[in-house]
Amino acid sequence: MIVTPSDENIERAAAVVKAGGLVSFPTETVYGLGADAFNEKALAAIFEVKNRPYFDPLIVHLAGIPELETAADLSVLSKIARSAALFLADKFLPGPLTLILPKQPSLPSLATGGLDTVAVRIPASAIAQKLIRLSTGAIAAPSANPFGRLSPTRAVHVEEYFADILILDGGRTALGLESTVLDLTNGEPCILREGGITSEQLSDALGKPCKKRRMEASAGTTSPGLLKSHYAPRSELLLYAHNSLCAAPFVTGTAYIFFEEKSLNAFAKKNGIQPESAAKNYLFALSRSGGSAEVAANLFDTLHAADRLRPAAIYAEQAPAAGLGAAINDRLFKAGGSKSVLA
Ligand code: TXA
Ligand code: MG
Repeated sequence: MIVTPSDENIERAAAVVKAGGLVSFPTETVYGLGADAFNEKALAAIFEVKNRPYFDPLIVHLAGIPELETAADLSVLSKIARSAALFLADKFLPGPLTLILPKQPSLPSLATGGLDTVAVRIPASAIAQKLIRLSTGAIAAPSANPFGRLSPTRAVHVEEYFADILILDGGRTALGLESTVLDLTNGEPCILREGGITSEQLSDALGKPCKKRRMEASAGTTSPGLLKSHYAPRSELLLYAHNSLCAAPFVTGTAYIFFEEKSLNAFAKKNGIQPESAAKNYLFALSRSGGSAEVAANLFDTLHAADRLRPAAIYAEQAPAAGLGAAINDRLFKAGGSKSVLA
């Protein structure tokens, strides 16, 4: 059930969390499906509702930097790692950066998939922060989608997946892509999942190139967000190199997702489609002018819209690799494009 994020409704959602229930709330990245991070039964319900494997650990959402140690134990880090953690937290939080840190022993291991590390994040959304403060202070929340499906960027996306859950409607999420997951427990900081804070931003802050974990078949065990198939629409997705979708053949019943409007228009012209009939012909553009922030914000939304048409296939165009492009391309690969980069 979708409700406005009034004080009264946030309190109502907080009461659900305190009672061990699940709620969905907006963050600046995507909508989360949250429960009390210290309640094992509530945590188990998240895995059950999402059909998520128990080995895939959750992110614990906290209200502010002083609360980091509610879930993470910084005292067991080396001095260097601890100051790096505090420095990065100070620079980027609240915001779309999730830190992997040693876990507090009191945190149920269900929240961390049995690992002795925990993912912590302080969302920038005022609604999320208020919900966390009014409930139990630590909300474990994956993205509010069934395991392996597209992440929700609007309350209605969540409702399509989980009709019975209380959903605080914060409108469309500003960023549209999940947080960057950064491991701080293994000597040097290492990016496990690309996301809202770019590797360039992290490298700048650290004063040297930030390490990235390569995606491997075995990566699923260290950070299941690295699993190759994830964020998938129901239709098969074929990925085209940047600026090459325009040359693809026009096949009725196939959805086309262009990086920018200019390419959509060129494709429409070439195939005798009037610009006003673009939507009817399943043509979508991720941005007006190719700005990657706009593309990121529209990515899941457009994939949801295309997938809703039940097209025979979805053809999508990659982003240039710099900045947010890395996270955009990562999500496109995981949406099924990894086998099929054309041109
Ligand atoms: O933006 C986001 O991060 C959203 C919003 C709702 O906050 N949440 C989100 O959660 O994307 P989820 O569960 O879909 O992704 C969590 C990622 C997974 O890739 C998981 O494997 C990784 O974080 N992760 C969690 N705990 C970890 C740990 N201890 N070590 C390594 N990876 C971890
Ligand atoms: Mg997810």
